[in-house]
Amino acid sequence: MVPMVRLNDGHEMPTVGLGTYPMGDVEASHAVLTALQNGYRLIDTATRYGNETGVGQAIRESGVPREEIFLTTKLPGADQGYESTVESFEAARQRLDVEYVDLYLIHWPLPRVDHYVESFEAMLRLQEDGLIRSVGVSNFAAEHLRRVIDGTGVVPVVNQIELHPAFNQAMMREVNADLGIVTQAWSPLGRGTDLLDHPTVTAIADAHGVTAAQVILRWEVQLGAVPIPKSGDADRQAANLDIFGFSLTDEEMTAVMAMESGRIGGDPDSHEEF
Ligand SMILES: NC(=O)c1ccc[n+]([C@@H]2O[C@H](COP(=O)([O-])OP(=O)(O)OC[C@H]3O[C@@H](n4cnc5c(N)ncnc54)[C@H](OP(=O)(O)O)[C@@H]3O)[C@@H](O)[C@H]2O)c1
Repeated sequence: MVPMVRLNDGHEMPTVGLGTYPMGDVEASHAVLTALQNGYRLIDTATRYGNETGVGQAIRESGVPREEIFLTTKLPGADQGYESTVESFEAARQRLDVEYVDLYLIHWPLPRVDHYVESFEAMLRLQEDGLIRSVGVSNFAAEHLRRVIDGTGVVPVVNQIELHPAFNQAMMREVNADLGIVTQAWSPLGRGTDLLDHPTVTAIADAHGVTAAQVILRWEVQLGAVPIPKSGDADRQAANLDIFGFSLTDEEMTAVMAMESGRIGGDPDSHEEF
């Protein structure tokens, strides 16, 4: 059983989830089905990924009661704005074929367009209507968080940001924690980079008799973050969830922190996602 974290609105969320980018509908439906069978209860998708139909199918096929599953999707940049957020969410909900979504995130802030505060206001209305349980953001820097909170009086429950040993996000983890926001880690394994072969990680893995991926995901959980590793492989999915039977020492945590080398994804101040 994966431990849960309580969000600032009182809802609970699993502390590890399954990422679904860049899977299409067919691949995502297989991966989400095996993940749910393997014990995953947090599934991360986005309208931008184009796989909400497949994710929804797997949820229904799994037989796992809907209320046991924590389902996240995200508002694409092209649909930011008050009415367009409401319409975009409803289309996503139809594709997922669910009554409600557990967590809806603004995918990127897009400060140049500057519609994220009104998009968040629309999400709060959808929450009042019972269609969204929790409202959050993704890729928000401190200034973006401050404007949303000042503009609406509501603190997002989650800020999903790039986080892995090469980009440990010390400052944003502190900003989020001070505000009572849970940090979710995207690309937690450093998607496509060689973090899993790094000698620091493999030495710690050998010492604990676990895999490199398990070391990295455990490090993120001990930092207080919620990793959402993507895997289409049932065995790797199971291993990625099996990280609650060992702990990293303070020295091992520090050694992984020293792997910092910079982000692999976009900068929230300038990244254009539509
Ligand atoms: N909010 C955002 O802007 C944003 C941005 C990027 C990603 N995300 C979310 O975060 C999720 C995770 O990030 P990501 O997919 O970019 O990268 P990731 O989870 O760091 O890495 C995924 C890659 O690692 C491989 N892998 C998974 N488990 C493994 C293991 N135990 N051993 C070896 N290789 C393993 C996967 O291959 P196999 O499938 O073959 O196992 C895949 O190639 C995404 O799927 C998406 O849901 C959000």
